[in-house]
Amino acid sequence: MTRIAFVNGRYVPFAQACVHVEDRGLQFADSVYEVCAVSDGLALERDAHLARLERSLIELEQGSPMSRLAMAGHIDRMISLNRIRNGIVYIQVTRGVARRDHPFPVQTVHPTLIMTARRTDPVRASEMAARGIAVKTMPDIRWGRCDIKTTALVANVLAKQEARASGAYEAWLVDEAGLVTEGASSNAWIVDSEGALVTRSLSHDILPGITRASILALARERQMAVVERAFTVEEALCAREAFITSAGAFVMPVVAIDGRPVGPGVPGPVASSLRRDYIRSHMQTKN
Ligand code: PDD
Repeated sequence: MTRIAFVNGRYVPFAQACVHVEDRGLQFADSVYEVCAVSDGLALERDAHLARLERSLIELEQGSPMSRLAMAGHIDRMISLNRIRNGIVYIQVTRGVARRDHPFPVQTVHPTLIMTARRTDPVRASEMAARGIAVKTMPDIRWGRCDIKTTALVANVLAKQEARASGAYEAWLVDEAGLVTEGASSNAWIVDSEGALVTRSLSHDILPGITRASILALARERQMAVVERAFTVEEALCAREAFITSAGAFVMPVVAIDGRPVGPGVPGPVASSLRRDYIRSHMQTKN
């Protein structure tokens, strides 16, 4: 089967998909993106991802390539053209193509819109969730607007690489006050020693995760104690449980931080049941 990409309004074979050498996304990371999980052939939380994409575009004073409805239609089409049952759809919008110069182009430019889709293996993901993952902490050296989902990800890339090189799956980024901001590509959570669910509150320091918002809603529905506040690495090590959330990982238990076990060092009941309920509820509700 030929993989298909979407580039500026056209569905093209993956191998032939390309953008201009002077695209500002390529030259300045002057672009924003989204990753939507696909489960059972449906884009999970598609509308929430598109709403966040619009917000990112507004924050960077970038134009939108098309309406939310049209974009939603292309996401669904990408899933069916690529015959994705479980996987992800990647969406990126750049400011467009212009002669290389840092300020916004003076002439009108059309935003570049690209989408790709690929399969993931849900069995492998469940196996990983059953084992839990290790994280490695490191200083958060990113810019001051981590709430905008831009493709300026080199600090995240370096952090993830350092984590993987040390045998950990994810990096947990720590601010100058010693508080965990978030993962290199996920939000960070603990179940504290009192049993409350804790995740950092929204600010310019973290991405407002779509999965984070759903898990908060799910926990409140269950009448769990939930606190949006920052926590230290030491507190996470003394916590009952820790986990990460993202469109790719859903809810993934963290069983070790910097080589030291979290709680008994196995996935905890809160993370495991939130993962199960999140997957279940999103299978039932479409978008
Ligand atoms: N990353 N924080 C960061 C820095 C992220 O990159 C992501 C997602 C999240 C979780 O957000 P959400 O729940 O909306 O996926 C938090 C995606 C999956 C990525 O870059 O591949």
